[in-house]
Amino acid sequence: RRRERNIRTLLHNSLPQEVVAMLTQAGDLARDLGYHVYAVGGFVRDILLHRRNLDVDLVVEGDGIYFARRLALDLGGRVRAHKKFKTAVIILPDGQRIDVATARLEYYEHPAALPTVELSTVKMDLSRRDFTVNALAVQLDPEQFGRLVDFFGGQKDIKEKTIRVMHSLSFVEDPTRILRAVRFEQRFHFQLGGQTERLIKNAQRLNMMHKLSGSRVFGELRLILNESKPLACLQRLESFNILESIHPLLKLDGNRQRILEETERVLGWYRLLYLDPEPRPWLVYFLGLCSGYNQSQVHLLAHRLAFPQKRENFIQQLRQDISQCREQLGSWMQNHGQVSDLFFLLEPLPLEGVLYLMARGYKDPVRRHLSLYLTQYRGQEPDITGKDLQQMGLPSGPLYRTILQRVLAAKLDGKAPDRPAQLEMAAGLARQLDDTPSEVRTR
Ligand code: CTP
Repeated sequence: RRRERNIRTLLHNSLPQEVVAMLTQAGDLARDLGYHVYAVGGFVRDILLHRRNLDVDLVVEGDGIYFARRLALDLGGRVRAHKKFKTAVIILPDGQRIDVATARLEYYEHPAALPTVELSTVKMDLSRRDFTVNALAVQLDPEQFGRLVDFFGGQKDIKEKTIRVMHSLSFVEDPTRILRAVRFEQRFHFQLGGQTERLIKNAQRLNMMHKLSGSRVFGELRLILNESKPLACLQRLESFNILESIHPLLKLDGNRQRILEETERVLGWYRLLYLDPEPRPWLVYFLGLCSGYNQSQVHLLAHRLAFPQKRENFIQQLRQDISQCREQLGSWMQNHGQVSDLFFLLEPLPLEGVLYLMARGYKDPVRRHLSLYLTQYRGQEPDITGKDLQQMGLPSGPLYRTILQRVLAAKLDGKAPDRPAQLEMAAGLARQLDDTPSEVRTR
């Protein structure tokens, strides 16, 4: 009935060699321990979709924590175990993480291993997952390496580009799956299955979103806002009235939509530059979702999403700094200010704040300056350091900062473009500003 499929070749062709080696090692270990081991979930889905995903999830029929410790030993990694859930994370020296779970046992004991019983525990584990496309597994045991395990029609749904829940209570059991369904649908350009869509509407009628804790909603919202096209997700959620059922203030109006569209464009542009550091996209979008709201409205949102005080303070402060910056940018433009003034205005803002300013400043001539600032000026330093000032005999003190800042300003404005010019300028400033008696200085 079920056609067996082995994707060994696909694994070799689509994964880096080290990952295949690691999977092979996991399989060998399972054989030594008398276990079975499978790669599962998004990792398998993404292999079939030809999408890069190196987050490996393993399910072990056996003692998952013991398995993780042994595998970590072989791979030279560390283990963090959660006894309560019988899960563990292996952290490899290069930072790569491997999640290991223990397949839950059936409720009843089977007599000695029948062939159909062999897979029953991984089947149990897979059956509890969210969507059929996430309920695929690949066996890693040496004799079965690469065997695709598909109990629930995941392959067919990948082929048909459909997000389908495993059973009709899925969204009631875990309403965050509504947000996940839309996120996967939009990310892969899939469609929700007809029944799955009806189940979402049904969960909405049951007010399931109200039952979700702030931190779980925010966890999912952040994942959505970190997708490459979050606006499509938000609009799709809006079509089910889900955003407003999370909180009325999350509803998108025309203005916020336009800002989010621009944010998408700005982040896309910034991504192509491959600059360091990488921004936290969710933060830029979140600023967009808050646009037009005052401090107390943002407080209500932060409260619904259970922000820790520190995060709320950070965002409230950032919003203030941004609006101040917007005003000052306006007068900077009017007065045809210097590059260095722009630099010192923007440098204290986190990168996300500058990106948000760009998204807000669409059609605005200031945007060109902001993009120039990000690509050429942000993070610039003078070509001289405190050491140079020391060698000039300048006693250390607050003057160092002043001089280095003035030198940096001159560099940015093209008045002291290179190190010799900056050294000369610094020496002049030191003579001019330092009022230490010269006999002290030469001591
Ligand atoms: N899962 C679930 N219900 C949830 C969250 C997760 O059933 N509410 C299951 C899914 O089967 C998923 C697996 O747990 O494949 C791992 O979760 P996660 O890492 O969030 O999923 P990925 O599919 O890897 O998602 P992403 O590609 O966004 O990392």
